Amino acid sequence: MMKEFIFVLLCFTASTSARGKLVIDNDAGGDDAMAIFLALLYEKYVDGPQVVALTTGNGNTDEDNVCRNNQRILKVAQRQDVPIYRGSKSSLVHTPYAHYYYGMDGLGDIDEEVTDLVPAQEQSAVDSLIRLSKKYEGELTVVTIGTVTNVALAIKLDPGFLNRLAHLYVGAGHIHSEKYPRREFNAYMDVEAYHIVMQNATPDKVSVFPFSQTKEFLNFTREWRENVLGGIDTDIIKALNKYESVSIPKNVAWTSLDPSVLAAVINPDLVEEYKYSKNDIIMCGDNRAINTNEFVAQDKANVRIVYKMNSEEYKKFLLDVFSAELQTKNS
Ligand SMILES: *[C@@H]1O[C@H](CO)[C@@H](O)[C@H](O)[C@H]1NC(C)=O
Repeated sequence: MMKEFIFVLLCFTASTSARGKLVIDNDAGGDDAMAIFLALLYEKYVDGPQVVALTTGNGNTDEDNVCRNNQRILKVAQRQDVPIYRGSKSSLVHTPYAHYYYGMDGLGDIDEEVTDLVPAQEQSAVDSLIRLSKKYEGELTVVTIGTVTNVALAIKLDPGFLNRLAHLYVGAGHIHSEKYPRREFNAYMDVEAYHIVMQNATPDKVSVFPFSQTKEFLNFTREWRENVLGGIDTDIIKALNKYESVSIPKNVAWTSLDPSVLAAVINPDLVEEYKYSKNDIIMCGDNRAINTNEFVAQDKANVRIVYKMNSEEYKKFLLDVFSAELQTKNS
């Protein structure tokens, strides 16, 4: 009996360490909410990486709202054991208007009474990023799906930060082209911070998932979002439908960067093509916040770009992960 118990324990320990640790740096945001839920469900049902922290920053809404949204998301997910560390309230140099795409509070401005939220930690997001990179040296993946200020500050405070990570994923920017001639929100929200991250990036440690690639390859109909994904009968999907109730009606299509970035992190099999690039951002003049990209060999690149994800497999992945708890109930 004891032997068996120890054996099971060893297997469990081995698998938890192999599957890695994850920090989600976010500006929640209805799209961040979906990404966070996706990671938490994948951890629970598919043995995905362990979500060890959420870190917050301004972006879709003010950081005070973002923090509260992180608390609300964890409550709905029944994962209030995950610590929240609070980060940047404004961008390094210039803080643009937030646009409040997902509503003023970032989660659809729904009228609901929220109680029993677990407070955020004392330590700041930047200090906790650095501390966790030491605690889990070589096994920590950081994914940033909002303004990149926290990550830029961590790099500035500790030049060894990036090297201790297993990997950094940055969900921001566009591959600039005639089809995507404009600036992208996450990169635009802190242009200087984005530049700092690119200045320090190496392609073995840093991958960028540009929004243009979600728009290009993962462009789904509003009908699919509302009735197929949105039709899954779970508390999490019901919450997401409310969180996106302001944003969904704005478009005939549904293209959401944050969940696609998380999917590429936790299930790299979905990625069909990576490219290496010299990637940066223009800081001055009329083209401020426009990305620059030059596809080059790996040894000339500063980042790896997540270029193409399989659309049908990604759709199926979202449906599978968000309905996992129903499968468990039914079996
Ligand atoms: C996404 O699909 C919609 C139709 O559902 C279309 O109007 C739109 O142009 C598409 N976007 C891109 C970037 O291809």
